[in-house]
Amino acid sequence: MAQELLEIKDLTVGFLTEKGFVRATDRISLSLPKGQTLCVVGESGSGKSVASLAVMRLIDYAGGVIAEGEVHFQGQDLTVKSQEEMRRIRGNKITMVFQDPMSALNPVFTVGEQIAESLRLHKQLSAGAAWSRVIDMLRLVGIPDPEVRARQYPHEMSGGMCQRVVIAMALACDPELVIADEPTTALDVTVQAQILELMQKLKREMGMSILLITHDMGVAAEMADRIAVMYAGVIVEEGTAEDIFERSRHPYTHGLLKSIPGLSGERGTELYAIQGNIPRLGELPAGCRFSPRCPFAAERCFREEPPLLPTPDGHRSACWLESGPEVKTS
Ligand SMILES: Nc1ncnc2c1ncn2[C@@H]1O[C@H](COP(=O)(O)OP(=O)(O)OP(=O)(O)O)[C@@H](O)[C@H]1O
Ligand SMILES: [Mg+2]
Repeated sequence: MAQELLEIKDLTVGFLTEKGFVRATDRISLSLPKGQTLCVVGESGSGKSVASLAVMRLIDYAGGVIAEGEVHFQGQDLTVKSQEEMRRIRGNKITMVFQDPMSALNPVFTVGEQIAESLRLHKQLSAGAAWSRVIDMLRLVGIPDPEVRARQYPHEMSGGMCQRVVIAMALACDPELVIADEPTTALDVTVQAQILELMQKLKREMGMSILLITHDMGVAAEMADRIAVMYAGVIVEEGTAEDIFERSRHPYTHGLLKSIPGLSGERGTELYAIQGNIPRLGELPAGCRFSPRCPFAAERCFREEPPLLPTPDGHRSACWLESGPEVKTS
């Protein structure tokens, strides 16, 4: 069996609101084997970012609370660590790449200084050694003229170049795990493809594991070894990329697959959209959370919440429909 680098068990994260405590993730369990990429997919509001912020314990600063569950990273439970201990892990063993590179970079320091700072902090490198690693990292992420670029400020670079800098910063300390939350969403399509390719290449060369959050099934198709599909705070289906793309069982996953351009049938036809909207926190329907939008929902689906159970082929799906509905995606 593959060695798990990250194991999330029954993680419930929520917020105290005027409606009381609302759960943005509800007892989710996930594991990420070493050296693999796990994509968490789902529509806006499904709880993807909240889950990743909880892993990093940054949720504490976003007003959220880990109410239940464990996050095992290299055998240690991160949910019981102090923020002091987490500061030694964040930026070092676990690093992050967010959607907007500009907000991840400090406008008043050169990009080289910013990468060097994290190397000095976490790896105790001398200024000279840190700077030469900075240049190596910028070269590795495909930035031309790294010696010149290292002395530039973020505003002197394009969005795509800035995201390469953020990736260089995320990888400089040789992390075990990189958490990337919509890393290419803010970039235009060609740059998006280049950044995804870069992440694949670096994963192969450096051997880190990636937790990649995306609402885009096309991105998951490019990147994932494993995929977890989230809906309204729960995981509704989980398996290898092949399980999800070729043997998916859950009607919500079918809907997401049908909405991928190019995978959804003849050209020129309108892109499929799942009808209705994801429920608001605190206003969850009874039974299966997807039942009000599910074209196959039966009476039981409106009454009882289906557990995430193994399917006959060995992945996991949370749906009462025994054999899975017949839905054609092509
Ligand atoms: N600070 C907060 N206070 C209250 N509710 C919050 C807070 N942050 C997130 N939420 C709620 O938690 C739920 C999950 O949000 P989350 O940001 O994890 O979604 P997501 O899947 O990342 O969506 P997106 O694709 O838009 O990034 C949403 O209903 C959101 O409104
Ligand atoms: Mg998000």
